[in-house]
Amino acid sequence: MQGFVTFVLILAFLSPCLCTMLNVRTTNGIYNVMQYGARGDGKSDDSKAFFSAWSSACKAVGTSTLVIPGKIFMASKIHFSGPCSAKILIQLKGKIVAPSKAAWRGGSEWINVEYVNGLTIDGNGEGSVLGDGPTWWQCPRCSRPTMLHFHSCNDLNVRNLRILNSPRSHVSVNMCNHATFSYISISSPATSPNTDGFDISHSNNILIQDSNIKSGDDCIAVNGGSTFINATRVTCGPGHGISVGSLGGNGANDQVSDVHVRNCTFIGTQNGARIKTVPGGSGYARKITFEHIVLVNVMNPIIIDQAYTLSTLDTAVSVRDVTYRGFTGTSYSDIAIDLKCSSSGCFKILLDQNNIVSAQPGKKTSSFCRNAHGIVRNTIPIVPCLSN
Ligand SMILES: *[C@@H]1O[C@H](CO)[C@@H](O)[C@H](O)[C@H]1NC(C)=O
Ligand SMILES: *[C@@H]1O[C@H](CO)[C@@H](O)[C@H](O)[C@H]1NC(C)=O
Repeated sequence: MQGFVTFVLILAFLSPCLCTMLNVRTTNGIYNVMQYGARGDGKSDDSKAFFSAWSSACKAVGTSTLVIPGKIFMASKIHFSGPCSAKILIQLKGKIVAPSKAAWRGGSEWINVEYVNGLTIDGNGEGSVLGDGPTWWQCPRCSRPTMLHFHSCNDLNVRNLRILNSPRSHVSVNMCNHATFSYISISSPATSPNTDGFDISHSNNILIQDSNIKSGDDCIAVNGGSTFINATRVTCGPGHGISVGSLGGNGANDQVSDVHVRNCTFIGTQNGARIKTVPGGSGYARKITFEHIVLVNVMNPIIIDQAYTLSTLDTAVSVRDVTYRGFTGTSYSDIAIDLKCSSSGCFKILLDQNNIVSAQPGKKTSSFCRNAHGIVRNTIPIVPCLSN
């Protein structure tokens, strides 16, 4: 009997440890911002309620669900910061609106998510974040905030989210590893300044898929320190297309490799697939693939722009191992393939199975190269300027 009691006591003592060891979820807390004092009337500042709900969800054990119900929440600033002991799911069923420009408290981001691992944000098809872009865009020189900033978030999953009218970039991803963005809809007018869709820097293994991005600047910009960045089934336009770079600005050493853009569509964009570097910088852009790209009236469907200057002192970011395969559709300008490399040259460029015709009836597309080396197969326009 005593042995049995001892056994039960030991078991009772050990089971929480066993649970932790076996990673059994010990709680499944629901944290609804309404229970933390949010008003959801679209006017009151719900920042504090969001912060309290997040703090509780973050401190919990197991899986926490932060619920933002189907109302309109004005929040002057949102800071979701880790590390968290719980794995968090944010269910965003409602709308979060930014404060007006006049009420802005300053800083470079509005919604700042940092140091959180394993976070999922699900907009559930209805969830939106709405910026006060129009009042900011009138002041391009103001220091305008990014809407949604992820910093040091690993294993991040964001889906079913609408993001509208950011004062500046809509989503920035910095120092994150393994993030997937799916079914994201971003929308700002063509005339809105610096409103990149996604801005990625110093991050690895990022996938943006099944999304639609309308903006006044880059659809997706892949900046220095990024590897394994993929965009799949993304539709861009209006905007400036998908861009690797600018790299090497202010003499920086910027390195980008393993970028895969596939099954994307560009509609009326300034560029399609762009690689842009600035003279005076160093580093590289390499192993970049753009394939199965549909173009509708795109100004510069394929462009490498190393902003070549005649100064022999200029260093350059090196560009090599770049594939353009399966581009089809129309170019707005005559030069559909424009490869302007620095004096040190771009190497291992492969143009394969492309068919880019003019959007203007009766016109022909052409190509231009400077210091570009590589191979062309089955491509319209012909690219006789590419050397081995
Ligand atoms: C990106 O695409 C490459 C090439 O298909 C693949 O190896 C890699 O796993 C993909 N990465 C992500 C994060 O989707
Ligand atoms: C991309 O499109 C091609 C050709 O239309 C198709 O065969 C392929 O399955 C698609 N891949 C993805 C990842 O969507």
